[in-house]
Amino acid sequence: AAAPVAGEKRVLLAAPRGYCAGVDRAVIAVEKALEHYGAPVYVRKQIVHNKHVVSTLEERGAIFVEETDEVPEGELVIFSAHGVSPAVVQSAEDRGLRTIDATCPLVTKVHREAVRFAKNDNEILLIGHEGHEEVEGTYGEAPESTTIVNNPEEARTIEVKNPDKLIWLSQTTLSVDETMEIVQILRERFPNLQDPPSDDICYATSNRQAAIKKIAPQADLVIVVGSANSSNSVRLVEVALEYGAKAAYRVDYAHQVDENWFTGVGTVGVTSGASVPEILVQDVIRLLADYGYADVSEVVTAEEDILFSLPKELRATLKERG
Ligand code: F3S
Repeated sequence: AAAPVAGEKRVLLAAPRGYCAGVDRAVIAVEKALEHYGAPVYVRKQIVHNKHVVSTLEERGAIFVEETDEVPEGELVIFSAHGVSPAVVQSAEDRGLRTIDATCPLVTKVHREAVRFAKNDNEILLIGHEGHEEVEGTYGEAPESTTIVNNPEEARTIEVKNPDKLIWLSQTTLSVDETMEIVQILRERFPNLQDPPSDDICYATSNRQAAIKKIAPQADLVIVVGSANSSNSVRLVEVALEYGAKAAYRVDYAHQVDENWFTGVGTVGVTSGASVPEILVQDVIRLLADYGYADVSEVVTAEEDILFSLPKELRATLKERG
């Protein structure tokens, strides 16, 4: 294709973007539960961190609660894609709740690592954002053995008990670059720090960052569709700016796109977080066309074909009912 003339209006649409396999599975789990057991179906925390998904499921009869003690005894509760600590599983059991665990299998993998390494007397440095649901869940697997490392500053100052039995693990939705920076700081301080057996930052997070890295240097403006509490969506804004986008903003909905952002803008990059339905991106694309940005090309940096089977509790029900 011919190189674009400076100032020409065009859109570079990142691929991959949007739904990952873990989000897809969690949303389908709630939909199937509503279908097969009928409303209401309780969900602990937002099933995935996206406003539109949550409000759509609410309209269909899902009730989102913060904790299992808000769920009436004997009812069905679904655990969100971000995972839960053993204490939460226990409290649901104590209340006699039926449960469906929609934790992403890639989060479960990190939980298993935490359990295994703690059992062998390792100390775990969990890189991630304190207070994020996923970090709470993973931390809860081995609270005695785990220290959360939020950022490079903390990596420079945290204390450990035994620097020779030390492993780092991470939240699945971090910035790949920042995590590597933190690991490097930790390794300088603790040369015997072990790496996790495989990457904890998931394929979806790293693929979406790689795609926006390719677009950002050419972009006068990047629009990331995603919710404020979606870690991987917020990272996409940061990564876009780090890689040369002149400006980058996050929106939940197309109507939040501000006309003033377009002053002097030729190339607009568009992407979306792993919890974002494609229709929300298409709304933005339509709006951009209205502003004269009708020339859209997809920038494809990876193909994704990962699919996860539904949570086992649901598979059993669906099988019984044929
Ligand atoms: Fe799972 Fe990664 Fe999505 S951990 S829920 S595949 S963002």
